[in-house]
Amino acid sequence: MLDLTGKVAVVTGAGSGIGRGIALALASAGADILAADIVGARAEATAREVREAGGAAAAQAVDVRDRAGLIDLAATAVEQLGGLDIVVANAGIGRGGTVLTMSEEDWNTQIDVNLKGVFLTVQACGREMVRRNRGGRVIAIASLAAERASPGLGAYCASKAGVRMLARVWAQELAPYGITVNSIGPGIIDTPLAAGLIGEGDDRVQTERAVPLGRLGYPEDIGNVACWLASDEAEYVTGTYNLIDGGLADRGGFGTNSPQAQQVQMIREARQRMSGDQVLAMIDQQSAEAMKFANEQRVARGLQ
Ligand SMILES: NC(=O)c1ccc[n+]([C@@H]2O[C@H](COP(=O)([O-])OP(=O)(O)OC[C@H]3O[C@@H](n4cnc5c(N)ncnc54)[C@H](O)[C@@H]3O)[C@@H](O)[C@H]2O)c1
Repeated sequence: MLDLTGKVAVVTGAGSGIGRGIALALASAGADILAADIVGARAEATAREVREAGGAAAAQAVDVRDRAGLIDLAATAVEQLGGLDIVVANAGIGRGGTVLTMSEEDWNTQIDVNLKGVFLTVQACGREMVRRNRGGRVIAIASLAAERASPGLGAYCASKAGVRMLARVWAQELAPYGITVNSIGPGIIDTPLAAGLIGEGDDRVQTERAVPLGRLGYPEDIGNVACWLASDEAEYVTGTYNLIDGGLADRGGFGTNSPQAQQVQMIREARQRMSGDQVLAMIDQQSAEAMKFANEQRVARGLQ
């Protein structure tokens, strides 16, 4: 059982979605929470949830583009909650636009919040951790988009690839202080930010089916991994990127009508009505047929 009792965690973007899920998960493992969000009322709502569940929490409005505000946030953690052991740089936004169409303003906003905001958050909280000299845990929220090229989301992808790399660099820089730094790459998580991607009604069902594990991710899924990375059990883990996507990345794309997606769905349905042995026999037969077809194709195309 992971135990974060006595630890103080700062979570940015804690008023919604993944940040809220992480704050609640860390609190249920025993950590005291400083919930930060650009919308102060949302941060306060998350802090209230923690308190109503019996935990300790405070809230602060902060824009992660504001260096002075983040330095103040780190100071608040120490003054109001008595320390700063864990920081989760989670706040993020999504601005669409291709290379041909994206405005400079949208580009700047995307990079400022998702990339510079993570830098400023980790710098402010990291300096406080070094001052306190008790080590620490830094968790940066990247994305599956850090590794998948998504047309129309270039700035978002670049920001997340940047976060993923910065976590590795900072793991090297902060290791001498006993501070670990890791990133998490969520897949499709059921939050307001991803609502457009997920769709509604049939589209939502199709999106769920495209995920090998058969469902969207939930903020708790990311919260559970953040708890582990923040725990003593993960003291030797640093510089890692943790993809949490239900298997989506290796399924080979988002298209729900792809053969891979249909295969996944067919197997999932078969599992409801067949024994394990029957499922094994079925997939063995399908595999043999697929290999025969592939061999015929190879011969027809003159391939080795
Ligand atoms: N939902 C997904 O599928 C998904 C997938 C991969 C990565 N992510 C990443 O996870 C993080 C959280 O996303 P989410 O899906 O929970 O989104 P969300 O929109 O539900 O929550 C984001 C929160 O961040 C806050 N925020 C926005 N700009 C801010 C700023 N400048 N300063 C402080 N707070 C700010 C918002 O007010 C909001 O409460 C983001 O970094 C996002 O890129 C999300």
